[in-house]
Amino acid sequence: MATNRPGKSLEQLQYHSGFGNEFASEAVAGALPAGQNSPQQAPLGLYAEQLSGTPFTAPRVSNRRTWAYRIRPSVTHKPYRPLDSRLLRSTPFVEVPTSPNQLRWNPIPIPTEPTDFVDGLITIAGNGDCAMHSGVAIHIYVANRSMENRCFYDADGELLIVPQLGSLVVHTEFGRIGLKPGEICVIQRGIKFRVELLESQARGYICENFGGLFRLPDLGPIGANGLANSRDFLTPHASYEDRDGDFRVVAKFLGGLWEAEYNHSPLDVVAWHGNYAPYKYDLANFNCINSVSFDHPDPSIYTVLTSPSEIPGTANCDFVVFPPRWMVAEHTFRPPWFHRNFMNEFMGLIHGEYDAKAEGFLPGGASLHNCMSGHGPDAATYEKASTMELKPQYLGDTLAFMFETRFVCRPTKYAMDTAELQHDYFECWQGLKKNFQTKG
Ligand SMILES: [Fe+2]
Repeated sequence: MATNRPGKSLEQLQYHSGFGNEFASEAVAGALPAGQNSPQQAPLGLYAEQLSGTPFTAPRVSNRRTWAYRIRPSVTHKPYRPLDSRLLRSTPFVEVPTSPNQLRWNPIPIPTEPTDFVDGLITIAGNGDCAMHSGVAIHIYVANRSMENRCFYDADGELLIVPQLGSLVVHTEFGRIGLKPGEICVIQRGIKFRVELLESQARGYICENFGGLFRLPDLGPIGANGLANSRDFLTPHASYEDRDGDFRVVAKFLGGLWEAEYNHSPLDVVAWHGNYAPYKYDLANFNCINSVSFDHPDPSIYTVLTSPSEIPGTANCDFVVFPPRWMVAEHTFRPPWFHRNFMNEFMGLIHGEYDAKAEGFLPGGASLHNCMSGHGPDAATYEKASTMELKPQYLGDTLAFMFETRFVCRPTKYAMDTAELQHDYFECWQGLKKNFQTKG
């Protein structure tokens, strides 16, 4: 039995650099065929298998596929059988009525019973229709053990994983991704993976994107550089497991979970080439563009990745980050102003404080402000920000993010019943006083 399992050090893992590039990667020299994709016999006795992430006929600029050279083809498994979805939910999100109320949650506790990444998936909200490749589901993962001899793949969408607590190694078919809070990764539709915990507990957020694949936003007048730069996206080098034994693969397919027996590790791709492969990104590399004169620009300036829809400028989902940054705008109310939006905003906090809220929005917690529901700074923040002396200010300890989506996010029954829901959230705005005077 040969394996090339890593040591525990995240620094040992190797990556290709660039977003959506065509990469060629082999864990064993000579495993990639030269000059063609499917020779009569692939090198080293491997099987050639193509994984298409887009239709064959997608335009070249958006076409995604990867050729894998693996020990066994993906079809070698026993039949899939239904598996209990526990707290995972999918479209349609109609368990409970959706109100226009602002919602906020405390962090979901880490379970005490043994729970791996798949068992610890808890759906908070979602929209659209996974069967129609539209919308998103928003999950929290809470885990205290690694996935052992168990892999997962999602046929319904790609997974944008945002760790908040605990470092991970995500072992994927195309290589290993080290991940710690402050970094994100995207595992595209169909790619099998298992999550190894490097610490005793792990928690984070997931956007399950049923729509178009996440891509970098256009930059318009910003120019050729800025926001998230392509070179900072990292795709793993090929690595493989040659392990026989009792393995299970859990599939999310049409909203439900299914499980099949394998007699070997499905993470057995020895070499691959293509442009459909998972990637990671360190949010510390995000180049903030912001006002150096006055006013608070729209949060779209913080877009890391966007999943476009068929309507120009109307994202199925934007992933937006609010990283440490300087605030220098003059004669300006600097925090996010009061607003009501077309888009629907699910926010999370990775660490620190968010500048629109004095308290109550905690690392690991979340908030949801749906279409046209008023929100903005709480009374304490309003009072402070409208009277403070405006000097250049560095917001250092903060890392918040937003999944911003075109459709109303409908909370799950769990999300509305959990003790972590803050029923008094509305109170944070009740102290906003009437200041109006007809004479100055
Ligand atoms: Fe907002």
